[in-house]
Amino acid sequence: MIYSRFYDFGGFTMKILKSIAVACAFLISSVANAQNISFIKDVAPILKENCFACHGSKNPKGKLDMTKYEALRHGGTKDDPIVAGKPDESYFIDVLKATDKTRMPPKESGDALSPEKIKILQQWVAQGAKIDKEVDAKADLLKELRIRWKAPVPSAKYSFPVAATALAFSPDGKKIVVGGHHEITVWDVDTAKLEKRINTRARRAMAFLFLPDGKLVVAGGRPGEEGDVRVYDISGAGKITDGVSFLDGVDDKKIMLKQLLDTDDEVLCLALSSDGKKLAAGGCDRLLHVWDIGSGIENAKLEQSIENHADWVFSASFSPDGKFLASSSRDKTAKVWNLASKESLATFPDHQNSVYGVFFKADGKNCYSAGDDKQLRLFGLDGERAGKQVRVIGAHTGQILKIAGNDKANLIATGGSDNTIKTWNAESGAAVKTFAGLTDQVLSLAFNKDGSLVAGGAWNGEVIIWKTADAVVVKKIAISPGLQTAGK
Ligand code: HEC
Repeated sequence: MIYSRFYDFGGFTMKILKSIAVACAFLISSVANAQNISFIKDVAPILKENCFACHGSKNPKGKLDMTKYEALRHGGTKDDPIVAGKPDESYFIDVLKATDKTRMPPKESGDALSPEKIKILQQWVAQGAKIDKEVDAKADLLKELRIRWKAPVPSAKYSFPVAATALAFSPDGKKIVVGGHHEITVWDVDTAKLEKRINTRARRAMAFLFLPDGKLVVAGGRPGEEGDVRVYDISGAGKITDGVSFLDGVDDKKIMLKQLLDTDDEVLCLALSSDGKKLAAGGCDRLLHVWDIGSGIENAKLEQSIENHADWVFSASFSPDGKFLASSSRDKTAKVWNLASKESLATFPDHQNSVYGVFFKADGKNCYSAGDDKQLRLFGLDGERAGKQVRVIGAHTGQILKIAGNDKANLIATGGSDNTIKTWNAESGAAVKTFAGLTDQVLSLAFNKDGSLVAGGAWNGEVIIWKTADAVVVKKIAISPGLQTAGK
C-alpha cells in the first residue's frame, strides 16, 4: 500500500522500470553472448569495483589511470593495454587471466575476477573496445557512474535498526529530524510520533544544519561511493499514508532545492557562521569547502576549498566573528584556518589520535576539541598560544565522538562511545550534567535553539531527548520506521 503510493511520484515508476530493463539487458548479454557490451553500463562498473582503488587518477599504479576512457587507452608505463577487436593480443585481458605475478588485481589484494566478469571485458575488447556515444572520452567515470545511479525507495518497514548518524531540532523546537536509510525522518518532540519521511539520494545523512529561513542543509552520501551537500525544503506536505507524510527528496525540485557539493566519498560535517553568511562542509576528501551564502542559499558561491588536513575531516566550527574556521580530522589534529589570509593559524596535535569534534569558544580565542583519546581539551589559537593546550577540561570513559554547543545555555555537550552525553560550562569548563539512558554509542548530538533540550542519537537507532537543566528524559524515540523491537 505504502509502496504503490510512494511510487506515484511523477517519473519515479518509469525510472525504476528502466533500471529493471537495464538489469535484464545486462543479464541477457552476459548469458546469451549476443548483446553489445556497453562500456559505461557493463565495463566501467567492473573497473570501478576491482581496479580504481590502485588505478585511480592520483598516483595510479603502473602509471595507468583507469578513471577516464582516454587515460585507460593512453596506457601507463606501457602503451595502450588494449588492441581493439583482439582480446588475445590485449595486455588488459592477459593480466586478468595471468597466473604469475602480473595478475590483476594482484594476488595479495584478493581473488581474480570471476569468469563472468572477465568474459564481459573480453567481449567488450572483441567488439572494438568502444566508448558509448553519450560519454566523453575525457569524462571522469566515477562521475558518469554516479549520474546513472538511481536512489532506491526506502523500506516501508525497516528490518534492521538504522544508526542515528545525524539529528537536529527544527528551528521552532517542535520536531526532531534524523537520518534514516536513504531518507530523512521527522518526529514530533511531544508525542515521539513519526510525521514525515523524505527520501534522499544519500544512503545516510552525517550532518544536518537548519538555515535561519528554515531550509535544511544535509551532508552525507554513500560510504566509498559518493558524497554530497544538499539543501531541502521539508516544510511541505506530501502524500499521507497511515498518518505519515511522504516527500520525494530525490527528484522533486521543490523539496530538494539545490546540490552544493558532489564528491567521491562521504561528506561528514557542516558548520554555519553566527551571522548566517558562511557555510562550511568537510569530509572524506580531506577538504573543507566554504560557501558565501550571504545572498541566499540559492545563490551560494563557493569561496574556497581548504586543503589543510591529511585525512578525513570530521567536524568544523566557525569563530564567533566568522573570520576563522576550526576543524578536526582523522589526521590526529585539530586546526584553525584564517579565512581572509587563507593560511593555517594553529595546529593542535595533543590528542595523538583521531579528533572527532571541535568547537569554538565564545571568546573567539580558544577551541574545544575531543576524540579517540576520550579527553575534552581546550587549546589556544593566536600568537604564542597557537596550537598549545590550555587545559584538559574533562573526559568520558570512551572515545568522544561528537561536540555541540549552545550560547543561550552557555554549554558545551560531548557524546561518546560510553553511551553518555555530558555537558560542560562553556565559560569555565566545569562539568555540569551527565545524560544516561542510551544503550549504544552516541553518534549524534544536538541542542534545541534555546538550549533547554538536548538530544542524542545512538548506533542502534535510539534517540533520547532530555531536559538540559536536570538531565530528565523527556522522550525516547526508536528512529527506524516500522521496526519491531523487543520490549515494545
Ligand atoms: C592492489 C592494487 C591493484 C589493483 C586492485 C589493480 N592493479 Fe593493476 N597494477 C598494479 C600495480 C602495482 C601495477 C604495476 C605493476 C608493474 O609495474 O610491475 C599494475 C599495473 C597494471 C597494468 C599495466 C600498466 C602499465 O602500463 O604498466 C595493467 C594493464 C593493469 N594493472 C590492469 C589492472 C586491471 C584491469 C585491474 C582491475 C581488474 C587492476 N589492474 C587492478 C596494482 C593493482
